[in-house]
Parts: sequence; C-alpha cells; structure tokens
Amino acid sequence: MKLWGGRFEKATDGLVDDFHSSISFDKRLFEQDITGSIAHATMLGEEGIIPAADAEKIVAGLKDILEDARAGKIEWMVDAEDIHMNVETLLTQRIGDAGKRLHTGRSRNDQVALDTRMYAKVACRDTEAMLEELIDALLTIAQENLHTIMPGYTHMQKAQPITLAHHMMAYVQMFLRDRNRFSNAYKAADVMVLGSGALAGTTYPLNRERVAELLGFEKISENSLDGVADRDYMLDYLSAAAICMMHLSRFCEELILWNTNEFRFVEMDDAFATGSSIMPQKKNPDVAELIRGKTGRVYGHLMGLLTVMKGLPLAYNKDMQEDKEAFFDTRDTLVKGLTVFTAMLKTVTFRKDVMERGASGGFTNATDCADYLVKKGVAFRDAHKVVGELVAHCLNENKALLDLTLEELKQFHPAFEQDVFDDLSMISCVEKRKIPGAPAPEMVQRAINAAKAALKNDQ
Ligand code: ARG
Repeated sequence: MKLWGGRFEKATDGLVDDFHSSISFDKRLFEQDITGSIAHATMLGEEGIIPAADAEKIVAGLKDILEDARAGKIEWMVDAEDIHMNVETLLTQRIGDAGKRLHTGRSRNDQVALDTRMYAKVACRDTEAMLEELIDALLTIAQENLHTIMPGYTHMQKAQPITLAHHMMAYVQMFLRDRNRFSNAYKAADVMVLGSGALAGTTYPLNRERVAELLGFEKISENSLDGVADRDYMLDYLSAAAICMMHLSRFCEELILWNTNEFRFVEMDDAFATGSSIMPQKKNPDVAELIRGKTGRVYGHLMGLLTVMKGLPLAYNKDMQEDKEAFFDTRDTLVKGLTVFTAMLKTVTFRKDVMERGASGGFTNATDCADYLVKKGVAFRDAHKVVGELVAHCLNENKALLDLTLEELKQFHPAFEQDVFDDLSMISCVEKRKIPGAPAPEMVQRAINAAKAALKNDQ
C-alpha cells in the first residue's frame, strides 16, 4: 500500500505509477534528502516533538541508508513514487515503528524544495570553481600574449589591430560575470524552507533556525506558501547556465572559425579534434561544435521551466516535478561543457605569425591615419574623408597605406610628414590605445591584475 493510501479504495493504475513516479531521476537527490531528514529528525528530538529515543533510531537508520546509497547498494522502488517516500519506506522497513515519526510536521512539498535548494547550492559552488579554472587558463594565455598583434573585427570585417591578450581578456570579463551570476544563484538557493509544510506551515513548534543551522543555510524562508511554490533559485541557476553556455558557444564559434584554412589563426590539438570517415585529410573541431550545439538544450531547459511555472496557482502543483530533469541535465551539460572547453583551450596553438600578418591587411590602421591628421590640426570629419579617399586609391593600386610614399600621401593632404610611417605601424596602433580598457599592453596588464584580484575575492 502507498504511504498515503489510507483514504483510497483502489490501487493506483499501473499506467499512473509509471507516469508520475519520479524516482528514476530524483534518486539523484538521495544525499540531500537523507541529510535533510537527519536534520529534521534531530530537531524533532531536541524539541521533544517526538521521543528522543525515536529520533536517535531515525538518525542512525538514515545514516545507514545514506551509506548504502553512496555505495550503490539500494534498489529504489518505482511504486514508492519518489526519493522522499523511498527513503521513508526503507527507514520504516529497517527500524520499525520509530520510522513512522520522521514525517511529523513536514510535507514532501517543503522537503523537495529543501532538497533541490541544497543541490543547487552545491551545483553553484562547483560551477564557480570550474569558471575559476577557465579564467585562470585565459589569464595565462593573456599574460604570454600581451604583444601578440591580431586583427580585431566588427561585422566580421577587419577593423583595428588588437592583441591576443586583449581578445582573451574580453572572455575573462564574461566568465567573471558568469561567476558572479552563480554566486547570486547560490544566495537565492541559500534559504531553508522546511517548516513551510504542505503550504500553511505546521502546528508543531518546529525550530526552523536550528534546522537551518544544522544544514548550513544562511536564513529561513519568510512565507510558507512561497516556501513550497518558489522555483526562482532553479531558474537563477538555469539562466546563469544559459548565459554561460552562450559565452562558451561564442568562444567555440571563434575557435572553429580561426581553425579554418581561410583563417589559420589556431591549430587545434589532435587530442581535441576528430577525423572524417571518408575524407582522409580532415581534422574537425567537433568538440567546439558540440559545445556550441549543446547550448541549445540548456536554453531549452530554461524556457521549459519558465513555461512550467508561468500558469501555476499557489502553492505546490505536481507540474513542478518537471523542474528536476531540466535542472539535472543543465548541470550535466554545463559541467561537461566547461570541463572539456578548459581542457581544449589549454592545448590550442595560436599561430602568432598568421595573426600578426592578418592584422596588417584590410586597412586596420585607417582610423589611426585619420587620428594622425587630427594630431596635425585637421578636424576629424575632414581627416576621415581624406583617409577614405586614400583607401579608395590604395584599393585601385592594390596597396596598403604603408606602401605609399610621403609624396603620394601629401597629394591627399599636406599635413602628412615622415613620422606618419611609424605612427601607422601595427605595434604603434596598439600601443597608442592606452586608456583604461584599451589594448595597449600596459592597460591589458592592468586588466590581468584586476582579474586576478577579482578571482581572489570570495563573493
Ligand atoms: N516528487 C515530487 C516533486 O518532485 C515531490 C513532491 C510531491 N508532493 C506531492 N504532494 N505530490 O515535486
């Protein structure tokens, strides 16, 4: 008979058992569920809500189950529906009547919210650590490439020269923000909801602060309806994950592009590429493509859970059981994505010579040429026009700006002098951009130092 079977005259239809049972996926919460129950039973005993001897038996029994579950020795029962009733059923089988007192003053509604909050807290901290490792790898590349010049792009057209370090540091900023988002998601999850009961609290004098203390929660929830109806903390994790995957995906897209024969900016390591079953010459960036592809399912889970929640009246509804697969799959996808991406990044070879050569094509110093004239007293809009004409001239002659002689330059504007040639070199174009946030090596060094300091800051 079901734990809730008292008022039923018929057994559940087999189809229903199969349809609504969540044990196949929520067994993943056994650690949180049992730890939460240990804290609840401890408090019940301490407060004299159940006999102290029963509380002790319950705690000992739960610890045994936890050990067996960790060792993979437990066969979870589909007809016990979910992890909560599986654990309670097992407990009573093992310790007898005392087990029947565990659920005093508690509902599965607040229990599942507690479990998933505990799970979310671990997931957030894990993700933060993975992001830190990725940021570390990026900082190493940046530090080694303060002077490695490459073209910067807008509209996928060469725009102005930057450095590889500066490009890597853009991603550092994104991943630092991601880390911050997971830290905020942690705070959202760090609220202890037991005591919310099914929806309206409970008549027992539960010591909620004590349970929060035993489980390491920062505070307790303020409203019992919200305590069981809220899944914002999961949505915070899912949205932080979606944004983080978007960042990884953009990075992967760039690596895929840079790895093409047309760009040749990077060489993927053999260990992180795959071959073709028909074309012998192929070495494909499948890993990067797959991370880009998996971003889609993470977005899907976020949209899925938002949609599950949007029409739900307060408080708990069974629809909310749909939160877990979305959450677990998001976590798995993100963990795998971050792990494999960081490992792959560490093995990428950057072809600095190709990047530097690429930087000097496509008139990437045209803005600097206009800025040169401005320095000589010409108004920027006039200088822009002069350089536009120079570029058109060069395109006709199949030349770069630096291929022109001073005489040719002077025909376009008399303010050009010999020093223009130094001023328009790629190195000079980068070094002159030395305001905060710009690519001059000294400024990027500052950004690296600031990022290192941010990493050390616990948030
Ligand atoms: N398995 C359920 C879930 O994941 C646990 C809560 C069930 N509560 C209930 N009253 N049916 O949401």
